[in-house]
Amino acid sequence: MSKKLIAGNWKMNGSLATNQALLQGIRGGLKAPACDIAVCVPAAYLAQCQGLLAGSPVDLGAQDVSQHEAGAYTGETSVAMLKEFGVRYAIVGHSERRQYHGETDAVVAAKAQQALAGGVTPIVCVGETLAEREAGRTEEVVKRQLAAVIHLNGHCISEIVVAYEPVWAIGTGKTASPEQAQQVHAVLRAQLKAATPQAERIKLLYGGSMNAANAAQLLSQPDIDGGLIGGASLKAPDFLTIIAAAG
Ligand code: 13P
Repeated sequence: MSKKLIAGNWKMNGSLATNQALLQGIRGGLKAPACDIAVCVPAAYLAQCQGLLAGSPVDLGAQDVSQHEAGAYTGETSVAMLKEFGVRYAIVGHSERRQYHGETDAVVAAKAQQALAGGVTPIVCVGETLAEREAGRTEEVVKRQLAAVIHLNGHCISEIVVAYEPVWAIGTGKTASPEQAQQVHAVLRAQLKAATPQAERIKLLYGGSMNAANAAQLLSQPDIDGGLIGGASLKAPDFLTIIAAAG
């Protein structure tokens, strides 16, 4: 099994001063990590964070990427721009983008495709809402969302990272139980296996109120290959604890 991946998603948080303190805290506290690590920072801070992470084992990530290559797309950031700042990962299809910015499965697939074409690994997010879970539609929803990115033109699906983030667990303090998360991860793994012989190489992250207290149990599940962490990634000691739990 390959290394686990612990990725922080800062969302729209931070400032020059707090970013510096947070990244220095993380760098200072890392002791020969056994997992891959990334922080997905606001686009405005990519240059600053690239500088602060230079020479560290922590990779830089973005929280979104345009589906377009260049041109009249006000407010968007292209994959070529991300590459200029040493970005290795880009989150695509986060539920907050799907919910507040109307991103459809087709848009998410186009973004994943752009990222791969530009040499950035997309972290593709899937996950059901509470209403969908209660209606017994969890499997159907996550399978539909994953299916959209499974056959990208000319790119191997094994180059992506998938994050299962149940919408009801994001920022709510309600974590999926390790069993609930594992159950969905197993469904996603089976779908990937049907699509590619390389399915075991694809990292399946769990996200949704993962924290220093519950990370070890979640990360011990057979199909959970890491975490996508929001709130707890903004506190160096908590993020370091989660990194240690992935070792
Ligand atoms: P929280 O860890 O704050 O619940 O956020 C999860 C998430 O959305 C990561 O992308």
